[in-house]
Amino acid sequence: MRKPFVAGNWKMNTDSRSSVELAQGVARGASGLAGDRVSVALIPPFVYVQSVVRAVSSTGVAVGAQDVYIESKGAFTGEISPAMLKDIGCNYVLCGHSERRHVIGESDELVGKKVMASLGGGLLPILCIGELLEERDAGQTEAVVTRHLETGLAGLSVDKMSAVTIAYEPVWAIGTGRTATPQQAQEVHEFIRGLLADMFDKKLADEARILYGGSANAGNAKDLMAQKDVDGLLVGGASLKVDDFVKIIQAAA
Ligand code: 13P
Repeated sequence: MRKPFVAGNWKMNTDSRSSVELAQGVARGASGLAGDRVSVALIPPFVYVQSVVRAVSSTGVAVGAQDVYIESKGAFTGEISPAMLKDIGCNYVLCGHSERRHVIGESDELVGKKVMASLGGGLLPILCIGELLEERDAGQTEAVVTRHLETGLAGLSVDKMSAVTIAYEPVWAIGTGRTATPQQAQEVHEFIRGLLADMFDKKLADEARILYGGSANAGNAKDLMAQKDVDGLLVGGASLKVDDFVKIIQAAA
């Protein structure tokens, strides 16, 4: 039985005060559910990770980072290592979010190295994958998802892979209000699970959590979560409002 997982990617939003207030509000609203019936992670900008960790300590809410570098220390100006994140109480990390792939220009290979480095540093990676609108229109969704998974999970043993969460985020659904229909999400999630069975084994594929992301909100969370292969939601915009995000957690639980 896969425990539902709801993660809030705050992207480049909030400030020192609102990040703590948002975290406290979510922890209060999700008490009795978070950590128990549903895994909940808040993913603030790097500079607020530590204060959010403090704000949610002992509440069952976990904290993640939006990115990480592939080396453990050294002359890499501006970068943050897995060890640093672990050191301040961060557990999860997004690898290969579409904004990093398509706005910042991260390659598939770099994303794979980030997954590997995160695991090496004791973090739980959330590997984000998904196609652009033109790729979907050209019938390339499965090819893109396959490439993202094969490069993102390259070299992982079954044991290491069991610590990885997959997030399917079709790029055309992110921040656009154009959510994938539950059926569209289910189709790709089922395909992903089949691919994991081929790449690793059936048991791992059955246990792997696959989140959907892309304009998920309090209104559509239940229908998305009702799909057999949708195990949770990676939420952007709607994770910035306590009430909306708590409703999503409740729908997932
Ligand atoms: P929105 O929920 O704002 O569409 O963002 C989704 C996302 O990119 C989460 O990582």
